[in-house]
Amino acid sequence: MHIGILTGGGDCPGLNAVIRAVSLALITECGARVSGIRRGFLGLLEHQVLALDPGVVGGILAQGGTILGTHNRCDPFHYFAAGGADVSAELMAYVLELGLDGLVVIGGDGSMAIADKLSRIGLPVVGVPKTIDNDLCLTDRSFGFDSAVAIVAEALDRLETTARSHGRVMIAETMGRYAGWIALAGGIAGAADVILIPELPYSVEAVAEVCRRREQQGAGHTLICIAEGAHPREAAMVVSQTLADSPDPLRLGGVGAVLAHQLQTMVSSEVRQTLLGHVQRGGAPTAFDRILATQFGWAAAQLVKDRRFGRMVVLQGSEMRDVALAEVAGRNRLVPLDHPWLLAARSLGLSLGQGS
Ligand code: F6P
Repeated sequence: MHIGILTGGGDCPGLNAVIRAVSLALITECGARVSGIRRGFLGLLEHQVLALDPGVVGGILAQGGTILGTHNRCDPFHYFAAGGADVSAELMAYVLELGLDGLVVIGGDGSMAIADKLSRIGLPVVGVPKTIDNDLCLTDRSFGFDSAVAIVAEALDRLETTARSHGRVMIAETMGRYAGWIALAGGIAGAADVILIPELPYSVEAVAEVCRRREQQGAGHTLICIAEGAHPREAAMVVSQTLADSPDPLRLGGVGAVLAHQLQTMVSSEVRQTLLGHVQRGGAPTAFDRILATQFGWAAAQLVKDRRFGRMVVLQGSEMRDVALAEVAGRNRLVPLDHPWLLAARSLGLSLGQGS
């Protein structure tokens, strides 16, 4: 049995832990030959592979990033480098040449949509849900989320002491394009006073009101955690770049700076902002993510072993299950407005930028 593994889309803590678990489980349980495909689907077009054996994957559990490299601009069904042509037949020809009996795709919604299309044209594929954004459908968790939340919480802890010392309003901007999971969980863990997420368009006046109230009550400082995709009721998301050659061309970033500018005219304290950016995607995975990534990798290897292709492994409650790739492809999982984290935040007196 010869199985390929690739990592697609943005990187994320825990990718190497999955690569290790899939490889070791397949080698140990089936005596499989395992090949790593470099730079996501691009590696199957550029013929870049790497043999994965216990010696190669042995020491990578805690390493951040991905030893295979990744790419978020290669959709073989609409390949920008070839003027938007469908080059999936070329990709399939190379899969045949390599003699792959299956491919494990570790990626987010974009990669799962490609994996689903490849599965429909005959490639035996298994998916593993990756994204710090935690916005993949039908899984309660994607690995990488816990690590990103830990970084946001630590950043807020640090911002709080300097905010307190200076009596400032401090804004921390997190990743999370359409779903506010990172800002919500990070904000709760880091004791933010205000949490702003894309699912709940905010009122700038309501946020200013929280800061003024805290100034009057003597707290003097306010900690705001805002997702990059959050936006005021009357305005759209802040787009920092549009990448013409990317399947998902919008890059966000900068809403924290816009909010800081607006608030500065409405409150007495100084307002400062910090954009956490890719710091949230870098570095070693938390112990939770190492375990989740290992479980996902093992579960993906079981699907391969049982030849149950066209599926993605998921965590539902505390159960490892699997769902059809078609059910996941192209769908986002937003924060439900009745989610227990939102209810708890509200009842503890945190502001979600809605006013009283
Ligand atoms: O999908 C994960 C994510 O981290 C988003 O939260 C963020 O908007 C995006 O990737 C950034 O991607 P890039 O690495 O291309 O800037």
